[in-house]
Amino acid sequence: MSLPKRVVLVGPMGAGKSTIGRMLAKEIGYRFLDSDRIIEDRCGANIPWIFDVEGEDGFRQRETAMLRELAEEESTVLATGGGAVMRPENHELLKKASVVVYLRTSIEQQVERTRKDRNRPLLQNDDPEAVLRKLFAIRDPIYTELADIVMHTDRKSPRLVVRQLVNRVNPKTPRHKRQRRKEGRQYAKGTS
Ligand code: S3P
Repeated sequence: MSLPKRVVLVGPMGAGKSTIGRMLAKEIGYRFLDSDRIIEDRCGANIPWIFDVEGEDGFRQRETAMLRELAEEESTVLATGGGAVMRPENHELLKKASVVVYLRTSIEQQVERTRKDRNRPLLQNDDPEAVLRKLFAIRDPIYTELADIVMHTDRKSPRLVVRQLVNRVNPKTPRHKRQRRKEGRQYAKGTS
């Protein structure tokens, strides 16, 4: 099996999609794209501003348009926003020629990793943990359904997650090559 044309990372806020996506892209020689950052660059404003002025619906429209454009890009690792799976029309765009990876993360980790963040409008309220719990209940089945690979990230360093992902998205890693060589030698000796 060779590498898929695209690797698409989905999962909740605080799952580490951007950090892991950037490292994974470097590891497999792909270009890293971050849908939220490109939306901000194009719009010339940050996500809180977009939510404020255009509402969540305005942001979701921009997000779908961006996913449609990015679905044409090959040899890329794409980090999506946590809510990108909420519009059914996006599903086809996310799955196009892709391996979809769900970075599954506990609520505790999500809370910890988003605690000081001011760039996520959905969490700027008195009880961000309750919001994360509610979103998880709605979205976890959707992420799971969409995903080709479900990767648990709790208590793992980004480096370890990336190493495990490289093995899953491209089994042609040196370890597998070594294994295949060993099997080849055993075959030649008639010991397999
Ligand atoms: C959102 C997640 C954010 C961003 C926006 C909405 C969501 O992206 O797209 O604030 O609905 O979960 P991250 O998952 O990268 O934080």
